[in-house]
Amino acid sequence: MADHILVIDQGTTSTRAIVFDGEARRVAIAKREFAQHYPAPGWVEHDPADIWRDTLAVAREAMERAARPIAAIGITNQRETAVVWDRATGEPIHRAIVWQDRRGADTCRALKGEEATVRARTGLLIDPYFSATKIAWILDNVAGARARAERGELAFGTIDSFLIHRLTGGAVHATDVTNASRTMLFDIHRGEWDEELCHLFRVPAAMLPQVHDNAHLYGTTAAGLFDRPLPIAGVAGDQQAALFGQACFARGMAKSTYGTGCFLLLNTGEEAIASEHRLLTTPAWRSGGTTTYALEGSIFVAGAAVKWLRDGLGVITHASQTDDMATQVPDSHGVYMVPAFTGLGAPHWDAQARGAIYGLTLGATAAHLARAALEAVAYQTMDLVDAMVADGGERPAILRVDGGMAANDWLCTFMAGMIGTPVERPHDLETTARGAAFHAGLATGVWSGTDELGRLWQRERCFEPSMADDRRIALSAGWHDAVRRTLTGD
Ligand code: G3P
Repeated sequence: MADHILVIDQGTTSTRAIVFDGEARRVAIAKREFAQHYPAPGWVEHDPADIWRDTLAVAREAMERAARPIAAIGITNQRETAVVWDRATGEPIHRAIVWQDRRGADTCRALKGEEATVRARTGLLIDPYFSATKIAWILDNVAGARARAERGELAFGTIDSFLIHRLTGGAVHATDVTNASRTMLFDIHRGEWDEELCHLFRVPAAMLPQVHDNAHLYGTTAAGLFDRPLPIAGVAGDQQAALFGQACFARGMAKSTYGTGCFLLLNTGEEAIASEHRLLTTPAWRSGGTTTYALEGSIFVAGAAVKWLRDGLGVITHASQTDDMATQVPDSHGVYMVPAFTGLGAPHWDAQARGAIYGLTLGATAAHLARAALEAVAYQTMDLVDAMVADGGERPAILRVDGGMAANDWLCTFMAGMIGTPVERPHDLETTARGAAFHAGLATGVWSGTDELGRLWQRERCFEPSMADDRRIALSAGWHDAVRRTLTGD
C-alpha cells in the first residue's frame, strides 16, 4: 500500500512541497520563494498566479525526487490571506491580500462597538489581520465586484481553498475549520458561517466555501496535473497544523512556531476558553465533528525582523549570521527592538504601532541590533505565555518550538530563561508540514490515530531555564518600557 504523503506548505514568503514516508520521515523537499508586493505603507499582497505556479512546480519536483507512490496530499497554508476569484473562469479578480496587510484598520476601528459579539462567536478580536475586511475591500474596490458577489458569481477562499479549487480543476470550493475560523465570519462554537457577521462585515455568504474536518476527503486532483489523480485528504492552517505536528494532543501542551511571525498555541481540549488578555480562541482541529480548541498568541514579526536586517538595513548578508553576531556580544548594550513593522499583535493589538529601536548609543553596533532582534522574539514569547497563565490556562510544563529560528541554540536558551519553562525542540523542525501529513494520513489509513502519531514525535534537545532572576527581571522591565513607548493607544 502507498504510505507516502505529499504536503504542500504554502507560507508567507515561500511555497514548499515535502514528501513524508510512513514513519513521518521527510524523504524529499522542494521550495520556491515568491514576490511580495507592498503597494502602499502597511499593505501586503501576493499574486495568486505565482502561488499556483510554484505549488505545481514544487509538488512535481518533490514527487519526482521521492520516486515513491503517493497515498494522499495534505495542504497547510499561511492563514487569513484572502483571494477572491471568478467562479466561471477560476481567475482571481485582485491580488491576494495578505494577513500582514493593515488596510482594513479604519473599518475595524469603526466596528469596535461590535467587538463583544465578534469575540463571543469567532474567538477573535476585531482586527485587519483577519480575512473579513480584506474581502470587503476587494468587493468595494474592484469595479462591479460587489454586485457580482451578490449574484453568486465570485468565490472567496483562504490560500488552502484557492489551492483545493485549482488542484481539483475547479470542482471543489472548500476549506477546513481552522482556516474558516480566521475569517471573522465563522462561529467557532456552532462550527458554521455566521450570517450576522457576514452582514456586519459586508461579505455575501454566497462567496464562502464549505467547511470540513481537517482529515477529510476534500477532492481528487484533476487529470493531467500529476501522474495520476491523487486524493486531497488533509487541510489545516499552518499554526494549527504545527500544533498537531508537534503531537500536542493533550490539554495543556503548547508549541511556538518561529517563521515570518511567531504563533504560540496552547491546547485547551474541548473547552473554548475566552481570553481576558487579548489572546485568540481558535479551533486546533476538528475530528468526527468534535472540536479541540486552543488559545493562540499571534506575533506578526519574528523571522521577518531578521529578514529586514538583511534586506532593509543591509547589516547582514545571511539570516544565519545573526546567531554568531548575537553571541559575539555579552548583551544588547541596552538596545531594544520592538518589531511592530506591521502593527503589534497579541497581547496588544495595536494596528497603528510601527517598529522602533530604543537605547541606541554610540557604542551600539550591528551585533547589538542583531541581538536585540532575536531577544525581541523571546520577549514576545514571554508576554504570550504570561497572558495565557493570566487567562487561567496553566503555565505549560514545556514549550515545544519549531520553525526556522528554533534551530538557533542561543535563542532557545535565552527564551527558556525568559519564560522560566523548559524549551523542547524536536528532531524535525518542519512540524507544520508534518501536521498536515498527519491529517491526510489519518484520513487515508496510513496512521491509525493520535497514539501512533505521538510515538513518531522525537525530541532532539531540551533547553532548561537557567537565567538569574535579577537579570530576567531587568531585561523584562527594559522590554516592557520599550513596548509602552511604541503603543499608540489605538
Ligand atoms: O496567521 C499567519 C500565519 O499563518 C503565517 O504563518 O509561517 O507563513 O509566517 P507563516
